[in-house]
This record gives sequence, structure tokens and C-alpha cells, in this order.
Amino acid sequence: MNYELITIRTEADKIGILTLNRPKQLNALNDQLMTELGAALKAFDSDPAIACMIITGSEKAFAAGADIGAMAQLSFADAYKSDFITRNWEQIRSVRKPVIAAVSGFALGGGCELAMMCDFIIAADNARFGQPEIKLGIIPGAGGTQRLPRALGKAKAMDLILTGRMMDALEAERAGLVSRVVPLDKLMEEALGAALMIAEYSQIATMAAKESVNRAFEGTLSDGIIFERRLFHALFATADQKEGMDAFVNKRKANFQHQ
Ligand code: HXC
Repeated sequence: MNYELITIRTEADKIGILTLNRPKQLNALNDQLMTELGAALKAFDSDPAIACMIITGSEKAFAAGADIGAMAQLSFADAYKSDFITRNWEQIRSVRKPVIAAVSGFALGGGCELAMMCDFIIAADNARFGQPEIKLGIIPGAGGTQRLPRALGKAKAMDLILTGRMMDALEAERAGLVSRVVPLDKLMEEALGAALMIAEYSQIATMAAKESVNRAFEGTLSDGIIFERRLFHALFATADQKEGMDAFVNKRKANFQHQ
């Protein structure tokens, strides 16, 4: 695959480094970028020489969120039918080797969610995290409402998600979102040091450790039921629900338009 919106390289033949590369848009995440990122992660994941991966951005922005221009005119039907944007993100969750996020600058909205999908976050001192979706009339859509409370508790997650404010690297470290904060010019050195240390260990053990820690964040039955209920309610926004129920009531065959 040819990568246009990310660059990839390896370090010491065993660390895969993926750099988001849409600098003019502050690495806003569009479908193409996420497709490329998913493919590159998968390729590193299945390369036996690679032990660990690092995702990073630019000094100014890890990623300033999903591409707002690409979302602005989206309808519910478009978003739902295409499983808007997050379908590619699921690939990241299925990566079995450890992935470190090396974050400098803005990590907002989908950018913060992408960082949280990684196994841990090392932040530069200029990093700023936030879920500003509320300012756009939406809510986080790639796990933010689930991973943020798990990472830093309900109070701070509610504060960030409801106010849309940003939090600096030190607040993020105090809150437990990031594992280490380092000066900006030491960010990649620090992340690489951690990755090389992980690469020293048994790949089976590091993969098993990752898998096992992730089990600690699996949802409960009540979470699943609430999630189901929200989707169930959302389906009442579709024309197909009206058609299906009208057809039943009037004893005719439903003619769904997939809208
Ligand atoms: C598209 C974006 C963008 C975004 C920045 N840009 N963020 N384009 N989508 N998310 C573009 C700007 O339009 C501008 O382009 C250029 O990048 C530089 O941005 P500026 O705003 O001029 O920079 P600055 O003044 O330094 O402010 C930086 C910023 C601000 C605070 C990060 O750009 C900002 O608030 N961005 C939006 C952040 C956001 O709301 N993210 C959440 C998105 S929703 P031009 O062409 O004008 O130079 C989301 C939902 C996820 O992520 C759902 C599931 C995935």
C-alpha cells in the first residue's frame, strides 16, 4: 500500500514507527488516513521482526480530531450506513502487539480517542488533551465516553466531555491518562526507549500482558444493555422503522429504503 497521509519507518529492525502526516490540517483524521494507519499497523503486527509500534504526530498536533470538513454535511443515514469513520478504527483495537502513543501538541476529539486506543501514552510537555465534540453539537464517537471515564474516573471525564475544555500534559499525567511526561525534544527518545525495552521481552508475554490488561476494561452486562437501549432509541430516527411498523399495522409487505 502507498501511504500518503502517514509515514512509516522501522527502528533497530524491531520497532515500527507510524507518523501521522497531514500537517496543514493538524493531522485531522479522515477516512483515508485511518485506512492507511490501520493497514500499516496490521502490516507491522504481522511482521515477525516487529515487537512494538509507536504512533506519533507533529510537534504542534498529534491529531486535532476527526476531519470536521468531511463530517459537516453528513446525515444520520450516511453516518449509520457507512459506520462512519470508526469502522477503520476497529483494526487498531485488533492489533495484538503493544502500541505506544507518543503525543505532542493537540490530541483532541478523535485524536484523543486514537491516543487512548494505544496501550499507553507518553506525552511531551506541550501536549493538550480534550474531547471538544460538545462544541460541535455531537459527542465523542470513537470510544471517548467509555475510555476516558475508565482512564481517569467519572468526575474528570464528565468535566472534559461536557465542557469541551483542554487539559495539559501535567493534568493528564496526574489524572492517569498518560504514563510519562517528558520535554518535547525528548519525546521520541523516551518512546523509543520504552519500545526497545518491550522488544527485549518475549513477544508472547508482551502480547499476553496486553491482552490480559485489556480484559480489565471489558464492559459489564449493564453497560451492554444501556448501549443497546441507546441504539434501539436511535433507530426510531429512521424512515425504515416507520415503514416497517406501518407495514405491520396495515398488514402489507414492508418496502425498506435503507434510510
Ligand atoms: C479539519 C482542522 C481540524 C479538524 C484543525 N483543522 N482541526 N480541519 N478538522 N478537526 C484545520 C483548521 O481548519 C486550519 O485549516 C488548520 O487546521 C489549522 O488550525 P487552526 O484552527 O488555524 O489552528 P489553531 O488556531 O492553532 O487552533 C488549533 C485547534 C483548532 C485548537 C486545534 O484547530 C481546533 O479547535 N480544531 C478543532 C478541534 C476539534 O473540535 N476536534 C474534534 C473534532 S470532532 P485552515 O485551512 O483554515 O488553515 C471529532 C469526532 C470524533 O473528533 C468522532 C469519532 C472519530
